[in-house]
Amino acid sequence: MAPKLRSMTSSNGCLAVKLPRGTTMNGDSTPSRKRSRSECASENPIKAQSPNKRRSPRRCNSVRDESRIEKLDSPKSPRKSLFGKTYKKPKWNPRDPIQMQAVKQALHVATQPDIVVCREEEQNSVLEFCKSCIQQNKAGSLYVCGCPGTGKTLSIGKVQGQLLEWSKEIGLHSPDVLTINCTYLTKTSEIFNKMLTRLQPSKKITTNLLPLQHLQKIFSQKSQPLGRMMLMVVDEIDFLVTKDHSVLHDLFMLTTLPYSRCILIGIANTIDLTDRLLPNLGSLHCKPIVITFCAYSKDQILKIIQQRLMVVEYDVFELAALEFCARKVAAASGDVRKALDICRNAIEVLEAELRGSTGKEEIEIVSFDHMNIAITKSFKSPMVDIIQSLPQHQQVILCSLVRLFRQCKRNATTLEELNRSYLEICKSTQIRPVEMMEFTDLCSALSDQGLLDVGKSKGQKLKNIKLKVDSSDITFALKGIRFFRNCLG
Ligand SMILES: Nc1ncnc2c1ncn2[C@@H]1O[C@H](COP(=O)(O)OP(=O)(O)OP(=O)(O)O)[C@@H](O)[C@H]1O
Ligand SMILES: [Mg+2]
Repeated sequence: MAPKLRSMTSSNGCLAVKLPRGTTMNGDSTPSRKRSRSECASENPIKAQSPNKRRSPRRCNSVRDESRIEKLDSPKSPRKSLFGKTYKKPKWNPRDPIQMQAVKQALHVATQPDIVVCREEEQNSVLEFCKSCIQQNKAGSLYVCGCPGTGKTLSIGKVQGQLLEWSKEIGLHSPDVLTINCTYLTKTSEIFNKMLTRLQPSKKITTNLLPLQHLQKIFSQKSQPLGRMMLMVVDEIDFLVTKDHSVLHDLFMLTTLPYSRCILIGIANTIDLTDRLLPNLGSLHCKPIVITFCAYSKDQILKIIQQRLMVVEYDVFELAALEFCARKVAAASGDVRKALDICRNAIEVLEAELRGSTGKEEIEIVSFDHMNIAITKSFKSPMVDIIQSLPQHQQVILCSLVRLFRQCKRNATTLEELNRSYLEICKSTQIRPVEMMEFTDLCSALSDQGLLDVGKSKGQKLKNIKLKVDSSDITFALKGIRFFRNCLG
């Protein structure tokens, strides 16, 4: 159950509420200002984060109560309870283009799920805040922050819908909703034009006042009758940061004017944006309330994917495959976009296998192996490119090392032993080996590129050799090359 927000009015007339977990008045950690945008997420699901990152919101994972997360295949699942325990899902036929399309659609980032699971508490906090503003006819501001792909935009979008339904149900004027994504603004001050146009759509502006001044005037004078509240959702609000922070400051200050009717929800990645850039809002006692969206945990990612797949009737993934994906993504970023991307890629791996198959063997589920390939591709290290562009004999040397270490389960060898392994591969693949002198030079070249560590020793052949890259990067880089397929076994 999400905690209830208790409304209170503070001495300065600002609306205050009792905050649930993850909600702070002074946000105390920081991801970076984001470079890429939600809109291009489907192409590039992992967002670059600038180095000025301070403390990560992922840290608040530690307070998450994992025990409250139900597995979707528990007996509470609607499908199971509807059909009883004997219900068996129909088999998925990946060769059926309609079924395939439905699965891909369910996993596409642009597909909005009916319910946003794992964000109930955050959505409830925002909803309660907005409700209490509307009930008290009071302006107020919220700042929603957290890492990319943690459901901020999605959740706030759902809350808007819930708020409109609620106000209709209880017979209050529904708020006028204005949603702005700041990445689309041509200049920062354009936000005030948009607000003014929404507040007074049919009025011709005849004064010399700037839009901001106009808004300040409107919100400082009593108007009869009182107009509707205005819910302003300002996504990617960090794009409004200017040298003197005046646009951000003026925007938040609009919610503190005596007759303001504006409920402002700012959304961005940076956790302490309001604290850092708008410290004087604190001294004026009108700091926005901060709601932090922590990075998704493994269980949450799993639950989100399973929830999205409930629209299709069949089992598409092995549970172990989904768990593997969720674990990898949670450890790397907690970004659901990345998890969805990997799942779609795993389906493509299966499709490629289907194209190459005789049609006799049945492939009817995305297995752990399909997922493993998709994950490997997705987390591909830059070393893979380097290895793929090396000259053939240097690649053979790396391949010999991987084979050697795999056979004897060690992580170091001598130049002589490596040369023996290299000669074996040359023999089995029928390529002419290079002389020992040249072989030593090739090893030095690999060492210069940071792929090998060639130790110092008086005797050339006794030099210690260690790999400086992950052997899985070498396997991944070379297994696509037909020549190496047999050597890597
Ligand atoms: N709880 C969830 N349930 C289902 N899908 C989700 C959930 N959270 C995120 N997603 C999926 O991930 C996508 C990205 O979420 P969203 O745009 O809300 O992230 P964000 O936190 O706003 O990221 P950014 O900081 O990059 O803007 C959504 O479009 C949706 O497809
Ligand atoms: Mg967003």
